[in-house]
Amino acid sequence: MSETLFHRLLVLLWGLALLGFWTQPAVAIDYLAYGELRGHLEPCGCSPETDLGGIRRLGIVLSRERSLHPQLVAFDLGNDLPLPAEAELKTPFLIAASAQFKPGAVLMNQLELQRLGEIDALRHLRPLDVPPYVLSNALPLSSRPFAANNLRSGKDWVALGYTYVPEFKSRLQKVGPGLLKHWQSLLGYTPIEQRVLLFSGPSEDLGAIVDAKLFGVIISANPAPLQTVIGAEERQFPNRLLRRKVPEVLTAPLGGQGMLRGGALRFAEAKPIADYLKPKEGPGDKSTTAEPWLKPATLVTWITPEASEAESPLKGIYEAYTQASQTAFRGQSQQRLKDLKSSPYAGAQACQACHPQQAKVYAQTKHAMAMHTLEIRGKQEDADCVACHVVGAKERGGYVSLMDSPSLVNVQCENCHGPRLAHTKNPIPKSTLQADPRQVCQSCHNRQHSPKFDFATYWQRIAHGKNQ
Ligand code: HEC
Ligand code: HEC
Ligand code: HEC
Ligand code: HEC
Repeated sequence: MSETLFHRLLVLLWGLALLGFWTQPAVAIDYLAYGELRGHLEPCGCSPETDLGGIRRLGIVLSRERSLHPQLVAFDLGNDLPLPAEAELKTPFLIAASAQFKPGAVLMNQLELQRLGEIDALRHLRPLDVPPYVLSNALPLSSRPFAANNLRSGKDWVALGYTYVPEFKSRLQKVGPGLLKHWQSLLGYTPIEQRVLLFSGPSEDLGAIVDAKLFGVIISANPAPLQTVIGAEERQFPNRLLRRKVPEVLTAPLGGQGMLRGGALRFAEAKPIADYLKPKEGPGDKSTTAEPWLKPATLVTWITPEASEAESPLKGIYEAYTQASQTAFRGQSQQRLKDLKSSPYAGAQACQACHPQQAKVYAQTKHAMAMHTLEIRGKQEDADCVACHVVGAKERGGYVSLMDSPSLVNVQCENCHGPRLAHTKNPIPKSTLQADPRQVCQSCHNRQHSPKFDFATYWQRIAHGKNQ
């Protein structure tokens, strides 16, 4: 008797649970999902609002959450590697960082497909540094990337991955009856609530997959174009992460700024990053959160910047990267040293005599100490940082190094007024500023590095024109 009563009770409880969460799909997987690092390895420190590249912080949050919820599975939506023309150097470090998080599966997304050669090279050299990539719609045989599996699985979950971008249409199968049938056979008897799809592609493909009702969980990569300058918009408007309302499909935040929470983790308390960095507190501790919408039932843990350089599982990776970027920076300098001999730049010293008023104002601005800012972080030899903190970093005859081109450190007159060596010898006034000076500013003060930039207020702090 007691047995049937027990069963009835169970059924009743289950029914109640279902009723309680009827808006949620029956998800059996407790997961955290992230990705879309888009080449951002390190926080730069330019602005507290948009300090991206926080893999370091991502790692801290993940390991803390794992200690609280040992069953959790991490899913990485991919698009973590640099854009094609950018910082080659970072690729192996980003791949290795992604592997160190011990994710259940990593979607082989567009940026990974673009760098298959580098992924393969690393796979031969250090196989443990390559994460478990998944790509379930690669066309058969010859076009299948070595590093990616058809399917990844763990205790109580199976994950498939779908990436469709026109650029790789010769390697990828677009969703259709054939692919769906293939997936059905791959998934076999796995209960639907244990099936996950990591998705990247156009909305019509997403619609077709949703309609097929093959998956309990679908998580999407971020549809923002690859070259998007990443700001803080998603944090200000978190509903932008909702790609589909019914059934709900969320997209991974850009730049590794946050983690999606799924299954029971949605109902577990998410804490601001500061709490993750502190030593673990006792269970009685009810620390309040800094951000009002980090409620117990939350969709995202935002990984807000944190000044602390806490010990992180990725410390070794960061140190190795700094070393490598210094070596590469020095390696580049041979040609640039030659170019320096015929440089069109004069340096701010050369302006002082004829423009004392402007020079005086300039010396008080933060532009005049932009290199010092890098030095105190040991980043004076990182091409990624130097780009906006010196004169002509990417131009012929521009900055080479502290030693070789001391007159071109910091942001100077010639960042805004163009190369002026000729003008110092023959000062014919010829404005090189664009009609709209804010365009000059925004080449550095962009949404990511200076999200609060507003010409009127910023110009006031450096104003030195005729009209001042
Ligand atoms: C070559 C890149 C570059 C350009 C072009 C540039 N800036 Fe800057 N700006 C910087 C950097 C880098 C800093 C931070 C320097 C530091 O503190 O180390 C900065 C800082 C500033 C600050 C100080 C902000 C603060 O926190 O007080 C102001 C104001 C400013 N810029 C205004 C402008 C204006 C106005 C323009 C366009 C007329 C402009 N900048 C063009 C790179 C640039
Ligand atoms: C796209 C241009 C750009 C790049 C690349 C860039 N910075 Fe900056 N950085 C800026 C600007 C602009 C500011 C000023 C932001 C503001 O005050 O609005 C700034 C400010 C800073 C500050 C804050 C200075 C202060 O006075 O508080 C630090 C620190 C910094 N940058 C470090 C770095 C490091 C390290 C890197 C490389 C990882 C880097 N930057 C790459 C443009 C850039
Ligand atoms: C961050 C960008 C920036 C830097 C750095 C900068 N300037 Fe300017 N400068 C401007 C802008 C923008 C104007 C135009 C202001 C206006 O229209 O009123 C200007 C105006 C001037 C003018 C007057 C032009 C006119 O017709 O009113 C002179 C001269 C000048 N700058 C010289 C210098 C010198 C010399 C330095 C370095 C010591 C310097 N500037 C540094 C952006 C800059
Ligand atoms: C030998 C003197 C001399 C030196 C050195 C000099 N200038 Fe000038 N500059 C002038 C004169 C003269 C004018 C025209 C003044 C006017 O029209 O009010 C001028 C005008 C300018 C203007 C406004 C018109 C224009 O051409 O855009 C800017 C900006 C400027 N200088 C920037 C610089 C910078 C930057 C340097 C240093 C690299 C520099 N100047 C060095 C003499 C000099």
